[in-house]
Amino acid sequence: MEILILQGSARKNGNTNKIVNYIQEKIDCDFTDLKDYIISNYDYNSRNREDDFLPLIREVVEYDLIIFATPIYWYSMSGIMKTFFDRITDCLKIEKETGRKLRGKSMAMVSCGSDKDSVLAISAAFEMPFRESAFYLGMEYKGSAYTWLDTNDISEEVTQNLDTFIDKITK
Ligand SMILES: Cc1cc2nc3c(=O)[nH]c(=O)nc-3n(C[C@H](O)[C@H](O)[C@H](O)COP(=O)(O)O)c2cc1C
Repeated sequence: MEILILQGSARKNGNTNKIVNYIQEKIDCDFTDLKDYIISNYDYNSRNREDDFLPLIREVVEYDLIIFATPIYWYSMSGIMKTFFDRITDCLKIEKETGRKLRGKSMAMVSCGSDKDSVLAISAAFEMPFRESAFYLGMEYKGSAYTWLDTNDISEEVTQNLDTFIDKITK
């Protein structure tokens, strides 16, 4: 199974990346950082079709499992991640062949917030756009991991969450 972790944080080597690194130590997967790409907001007239989105999504759809890794910003996914999701609309309009390749593939999500209470309080609502997008795109939603970093190190509890998540998504 070919697995891609797609990171969408406002910083390359921040907390989300620490969580991503942990997952990468446990499973064989490729990594893409959305910060390395210029992806502009969705445009109804597709005037941004020359930016980095279409070449990137053509690569992403070749994976069997895509793990979206996002920090929690204002109770939601990061803006960079949301823009990526908005642009998937291009795959329903101007690049349908690419969009169709997502059918039958799998999606999972890992989020990283600042502390346990605030992360768990919003977990169901936070997950909804990922779960529903997977359903809409004909993908299997394999689940999520909720993580937080209140110190520099990943806590035992978060480690356990991640191990359970990794077991589940790689079955
Ligand atoms: C713009 C912004 C908004 C944030 N909003 C939330 C929030 O709603 N809930 C939360 O738990 N943490 C929030 N945080 C804290 C981050 O989720 C947390 O520090 C996370 O680990 C940062 O990951 P990063 O280093 O990949 O950006 C916010 C941080 C920023 C910069």
